[in-house]
Amino acid sequence: MAQTLDSHWPESSSSNLQTPDSTVDVHIVYAHPGKHSLTHEVLASFLRGLGDAGRTHSISDLYAMGFNPVLGLADYEREHNYRADDCLPADVVAEQGKLNAADVWAFIYPVWWTDCPAILKGWFDRVWTVGFAYKPRAVVPARKALVICTAGHTEAHLRETGCYQAMETTMLTDRLYDRAKEKEFILLGGSEALQGSEWEQQKSLHMTTAYRLGRDLASESAAK
Ligand SMILES: Cc1cc2nc3c(=O)[nH]c(=O)nc-3n(C[C@H](O)[C@H](O)[C@H](O)COP(=O)(O)O)c2cc1C
Repeated sequence: MAQTLDSHWPESSSSNLQTPDSTVDVHIVYAHPGKHSLTHEVLASFLRGLGDAGRTHSISDLYAMGFNPVLGLADYEREHNYRADDCLPADVVAEQGKLNAADVWAFIYPVWWTDCPAILKGWFDRVWTVGFAYKPRAVVPARKALVICTAGHTEAHLRETGCYQAMETTMLTDRLYDRAKEKEFILLGGSEALQGSEWEQQKSLHMTTAYRLGRDLASESAAK
């Protein structure tokens, strides 16, 4: 299932071409270090939904790949000076190719300090390059992007504090922006705030939601 890369610090590629070899219905960017986690169960339910609907997928399991999330000096200077013609690191080119090959993108992660895990933040820092994500844009906009995150607080609490809105705005309005034609932010909350049977009921609803999000992509148009 997971596509893993051997190197944490790949060499530069000689080309910035992001031509996909083949196409898939959904590309998943997944960020959680542990298999025994709620977030991993959410991923499994989503994959079951996709499988039942006959959808193909690829996955960037960022921890399993040992994805390097640190934007280094060479990357910084390229971005800072808008040098879209500079060569990109091979792992970045690979991530961009996977996005361009997919009709739908899904980001699945736990909420940590009112944001995604640092490894996913770093994925945006490094993969959203000048010449791919902006100035000029080479990314093929996704037909749809799903942001599915788990949280310890309930959605109601996160809405009351404004944290929900902050996360939704950051992910949909800034990071995804018009790089996806349709965007949805889904927060599956309550893993720490709820206990006992109340949590068990809520968790079961979350798993159904994750399953349906995967399955129901099938009833939608497949063309980007
Ligand atoms: C470092 C860390 C920071 C967290 N920050 C938040 C937070 O800001 N808001 C929140 O609702 N939950 C927060 N949580 C709880 C996680 O979102 C929750 O445990 C996770 O979504 C589900 O657990 P899992 O690790 O089993 O997938 C945090 C958890 C950790 C480990």
